[in-house]
Amino acid sequence: MTAAYSIDRYIEDLREISRGSSDEDEIFRRVAPLATRLAEDRTWLVEKYYTADPVQGFGVHVLHEEPDHTLAVMAVAWLPGRGTPPHDHGTWAVVAGVEGNERNIRYKRVDDGSRPDFAELQVKHEFVARPGDVVCIKNGGIHLVRNETDSVTVSLHTYGKHVNHTNRSQYDLESNRKQDFIVKIE
Ligand SMILES: [Fe+2]
Repeated sequence: MTAAYSIDRYIEDLREISRGSSDEDEIFRRVAPLATRLAEDRTWLVEKYYTADPVQGFGVHVLHEEPDHTLAVMAVAWLPGRGTPPHDHGTWAVVAGVEGNERNIRYKRVDDGSRPDFAELQVKHEFVARPGDVVCIKNGGIHLVRNETDSVTVSLHTYGKHVNHTNRSQYDLESNRKQDFIVKIE
């Protein structure tokens, strides 16, 4: 039997885990099953978390962040046919599927990193994340997310730090341009 889980308990667990270790593999090993548990619990999931900005293509709902912006937990809604450009996070990320299937494409950088506004990417790995699946991305990892279904999808995102406070980047695959990536918060 699995006891009910909640955002509050998840935050408490995140605090304990981040106090205990800054090693990303250790954080992933401990956070991933809890993120899945919260994603599957769904008692926290309310109608407004399905809303998204039509220009941005997705809606970011912040469920929690510490005063210093660490341990940010967000519900992200994705409009049909929409997604993100390739991006990094500037911190670790644990993404758990809640509703619908989301395509993930992981990239590796193949340029030498010598130009601050230039990056050449190559596809490394591609998969579909389903409800209950969890995706862990280390600081520096680059990916994109796309909703290829006909319905709004929702996933639960946990970051070492709120991604609008990490100086992270987005990448243009055609121009190889690397630039700041700030998301609009609902
Ligand atoms: Fe991401």
